[in-house]
Amino acid sequence: MGKSLTISRVSSFRGKVRPPSDKSLTHRAYLLAALAQPVPGEEFVPAVDGPGAASAYGVPGRNVSQILNPLTGEDCESTLACLEALGVRVERVSDRERRVHAEGKLSGKDVILDCGNSGTTMRLLAGLVAASPDASGTMVGDASLLKRPMKRVVQPLRLMGAEIEGDTAPLTFTGKTLSGISYESPVASAQIKSCLLLAGLLSDGTTTVTEPSLSRDHTERMLTALGVDLQRDGLAVSVRGGQTWNSFAFKVPADISSAAFFMVAAALHPGARVTLQEVGVNPSRTGILDVFAESGIVVTTEPRQDELGEPVADLSIEGAAILKPFTIRGDLVPRLIDEIPVLAVLATQCHGTSIIRDAAEMRVKETDRIAVVADALTQMGAQVEVFPDGMAITGPTALKGITVDSAGDHRIGMSFAVAGSIAEGETIILNADHIGTSYPEFEQHFETLAVRS
Ligand code: S3P
Repeated sequence: MGKSLTISRVSSFRGKVRPPSDKSLTHRAYLLAALAQPVPGEEFVPAVDGPGAASAYGVPGRNVSQILNPLTGEDCESTLACLEALGVRVERVSDRERRVHAEGKLSGKDVILDCGNSGTTMRLLAGLVAASPDASGTMVGDASLLKRPMKRVVQPLRLMGAEIEGDTAPLTFTGKTLSGISYESPVASAQIKSCLLLAGLLSDGTTTVTEPSLSRDHTERMLTALGVDLQRDGLAVSVRGGQTWNSFAFKVPADISSAAFFMVAAALHPGARVTLQEVGVNPSRTGILDVFAESGIVVTTEPRQDELGEPVADLSIEGAAILKPFTIRGDLVPRLIDEIPVLAVLATQCHGTSIIRDAAEMRVKETDRIAVVADALTQMGAQVEVFPDGMAITGPTALKGITVDSAGDHRIGMSFAVAGSIAEGETIILNADHIGTSYPEFEQHFETLAVRS
């Protein structure tokens, strides 16, 4: 049995925190750093050395990328460990800096790649391993990951010529040179898109991925910032195989999906004011700001410097006296897919019925998030109607504390900690250690911001 977290009602939230760094960006930075082309005869010159590195970096190093302020949670560490198993040299300089050597390729025979709880590790790396003639091995993961759908990447990779056994993990790969394809993804998933684009970069010909609506475009932005020629035509994105890039320095912005918990916590407490610093505000991730606007929640945005094509800002959120109901559907869904559990908590306090539809993807995340959220919110006293692809939540209703099992899902644990902050009595989150997957300092930040009077 893991550790549990007990939350009681909080009178307000006030103050500033810098949420943990972006999970999607940290994964991608590690993968792109490993695949960067080594420059023959170049010595490594760190962009910045010493304890101040993370606050004062400037010029990229040579043959070694410096990833500053990486997310140190378990998922991104799984990506690093898999890369090491594939012959990539990694230096864990400190929690504020990882260095990844430019290998230009992945190699190793019959390696075991343990992706832990991380769907992003498995799906993105699947593309790279499948397209690496010097690599072969088996991808495994924890109980939750073994159940998640992998056919969505395995099938298009097979169309490119990949040799993969299994449609769910464990997946066994024999890497080879693949051929580019044009693929219409049935789902708006950045993991499918990124898997195929990364495979396409190592393959012959051109790879095009078209998605039904825009999912997070970090892979596209980062590659473009690194000088790779990537063509976008509406919802189609194409990349020519054989292009290379060099090592880089990247200071990872904070994750809006983690910031979301305290954004909602502040919004739920009239008079609250919370500032979340250095948050990545890529428009393909900021659907939560659209929901806040519809709900009448005031957000002030203070822009900061971009990082590898990714916009960054400080976000200040004020608690709202009256929350209006909101609708999440269609193109908005991929722009806030990971924030829906905590937005469902927000909906319980909105005056009227909030609608969440077109979100069937929630059912194949770390847990079936529609079922788990609807069940726990109902137990807390919320009025929830469940659909195959979403929920309708009618508020406002008073919530009462319950015991909820995070069931191996970090975002479920944190969403119910936020619900507990407005509930009567105690809310106990079981298996709260999973929160460390994306937000190792969650409990500490909760205590920093919570006002108890
Ligand atoms: C991610 C994409 C999303 C998201 C996940 C991270 C990524 O998944 O839920 O937490 O880094 O590409 P899908 O693209 O499968 O929706």
